[in-house]
This record gives sequence, structure tokens and C-alpha cells, in this order.
Amino acid sequence: MLAVSAKVVRLPRALTHSKRALHDLTALPSNKPVIAYGPPGRSATTGHIATVFGCTGFMGRYVVAKLAKAGTQVIVPYRDEDEKRHLKVTGDLGQIVNMEWDLRRPDQIEECLRHSDIVYNLVGREYETKNFSYEDVHVKGAGMIANVAAQAGVDRFVHVSHLNAAHDSPSAFYRSKAAGEEAVKEAFPTATIVRPSLMYGYEDRLLNNVAFWAIWWKLNHMQTKVRPVHVMDVAQALANLIQIPSMPGTFNLPGPSTMTYEYLITLVSTVTYNPPSRAPVLPKLVALWLAKMAQYVWWPALSPDEVIRRYIDDVDVPGDWDKFGITPDEIEEHAITYLRRYRSA
Ligand SMILES: NC(=O)c1ccc[n+]([C@@H]2O[C@H](COP(=O)([O-])OP(=O)(O)OC[C@H]3O[C@@H](n4cnc5c(N)ncnc54)[C@H](OP(=O)(O)O)[C@@H]3O)[C@@H](O)[C@H]2O)c1
Repeated sequence: MLAVSAKVVRLPRALTHSKRALHDLTALPSNKPVIAYGPPGRSATTGHIATVFGCTGFMGRYVVAKLAKAGTQVIVPYRDEDEKRHLKVTGDLGQIVNMEWDLRRPDQIEECLRHSDIVYNLVGREYETKNFSYEDVHVKGAGMIANVAAQAGVDRFVHVSHLNAAHDSPSAFYRSKAAGEEAVKEAFPTATIVRPSLMYGYEDRLLNNVAFWAIWWKLNHMQTKVRPVHVMDVAQALANLIQIPSMPGTFNLPGPSTMTYEYLITLVSTVTYNPPSRAPVLPKLVALWLAKMAQYVWWPALSPDEVIRRYIDDVDVPGDWDKFGITPDEIEEHAITYLRRYRSA
């Protein structure tokens, strides 16, 4: 008879024993328990479920990645199949859940958020399209998502507005952002509203745009003042909110320094080793006319409202970064990362 030797495979303790500590258990404002479990690292689970509307955009990918990396299950509403593919790998198996949605369909919005305890609204558009005006996206859309979230009993709602949102702004975009904040507060009074300034990063419309289209940053004789902020800092601030049970109010997230377009153009030219653009400074009326004409091309071009925004300084208000536990970085620290590709050799 053969002697069968039973070989015992010893698994790491973390995989065999589910140890639960008091700090693994948190109660949401609705008193629903959230239980963190699993081994540490990528396979950890925070017990939270988040829906990130607008996740397919520039900032969305970083918010989803930061949430998923920490072990939060993320619902990823998308419109175009190809726009959400890169998000799947940002989390462990089963942690990124794709759901098709339409901003005008409350039933689809409800499907996307009914299991979540936190909902982020990052939906926004720099320009109007034939299907969606600023009002549709920033006011009606934001109000509808907040309303559906409130009806579904979601615990927390985070809405992304803009530092320059104001009812009396000359820009229709900034006015709609201010009206959107009101709509969100009305539907979800405990919402957290964050107001970042212009963000920079790999897919930004700031450094990339200055490197490519300097002429449009020469408007106002390059004297418009901006406070650029790193997209990673804003995304981290949003991700940190998951650990804060409740934070109602409006919070400004500007960059740490104020600079003119002239400084930005010089920075981009220095980092890319390209000579400063010799493009002329366009008068406002000419720029507006060109932007109006550009609306007839089928790809997104600079809109007349963006021209107006190029004449508006970022508001001079203090940042609320300490509430999110973050110190924002200076643009000079990261510019090389995003601009290296514009060097000629
Ligand atoms: N980028 C900045 O410098 C900056 C500065 C301050 C504030 N913000 C605000 O921060 C938020 C995120 O900015 P971002 O730069 O990441 O924007 P983005 O790259 O333009 O992405 C916008 C997101 O909104 C979605 N969206 C737009 N219109 C929609 C519609 N009609 N129906 C459904 N989804 C729609 C887009 O979905 P699709 O992919 O399907 O189009 C995308 O996921 C926005 O609210 C923006 O206004 C941005």
C-alpha cells in the first residue's frame, strides 16, 4: 500500500483569518455600517461603494483610480464604450462596474447610484454642443443627479464646480456652474461642493494647450491671472472625502500660486526648449469672431465663451486644502512630466 503523505500548504495568515478590528467598522450618516475587510494592498476592500458620474473625463480617471486603489468599489457610468475601457484596470477584479447612462434619464441615474453610499458628480463641459447647453449639463443635469441621489437615500454627494463660478460672471459657463451649485444644494442640502481652479495633468487643457496653441493664451496681452492646480491633488482631495463621514459646504481648491498667462507661456517654452511663440496678440473682437467661426468645424474648437474666460482672473480666495489633508504642489514641480513630450529631440 502506498503511504500517502498529506502536504499541508500554509497560506499567509492574512488570507486564512479574517481579523476584524474596531476601526474596520464605520457607520454612515444613515447608520448603515461599512465594514472594511480583506488583505492589505490592492485586494483590500474599504466596504464603500462610490458612483463617479463624469468618470470618463480628464479628472475622472484619477478619482476612479484613487478610490479603486484603496479598495472602494466604483460604479463607472459611461456613454461611449471606448471611453471607459482604461478604467477597468484601475481596480481589482469586480471592483470597477461599468453602467451605460444618459444624463436625461433619471431611471438610469438611479440604477447607477442605488447601491452607493457616496456619489461624485464630475460631469461638465467646456463648450456647448447641439445636444447639450451649459444649462443642461451644469444645472439641470447636476440637479437631477443630486435629486435622484437624495431620493435613493445616498449618504453623501460630492459636486465639482469651478473656482470662478459666479452668478454675475460675464461667462455663461461660470454662471451655469454657480446655478448648478444652487440646484445641487437645493436637492441635496448636505452636499460637499468643491471648486477647483484650472487643472493641469497629462490630458489637461492647460499645459498641452499652451504648448500647442499659444496664440489663444496671448489674449488680454497675457495679463490674465490664473492659479493652476495639479489634477492629482484635486483627485486625492475627492478620494479623501470617503474617510470623512460628512462635510457639507462649498470648498475652494485653487493652486498655491497666482501667475499670469505670460508666466505660463514662458514656463512652457523653457521646459519644452521651444522658442516663445511669435503669434500676434489678437484683439478680443477678432478672437471672438474666429471662435464663432470655429464652431462650424466638427471637432471641439475654442468656443466664444472660452475666449471670454481668457479675460477673467481667477478669484483671489483662500484655499480649503487643510480640510482635505492635502498641501497642493506648485506647477513648476510637475511641468516637466507633462511637457517633456513637446521637446523636439
Ligand atoms: N479641467 C479643469 O481645468 C477644470 C477646472 C475646474 C473645474 N472643472 C470641473 O471639473 C469637472 C471635471 O472636469 P474634467 O476636466 O475632467 O472634464 P472633462 O474632461 O471634460 O470630462 C467631463 C465628463 O463629463 C461627462 N459629460 C459631459 N457632458 C455630458 C453629458 N451631456 N452627458 C453625460 N456626461 C457628460 C463626460 O462624459 P463623456 O466622456 O461621455 O463625454 C466626461 O466624463 C467638470 O465639472 C469641470 O467643469 C474642471
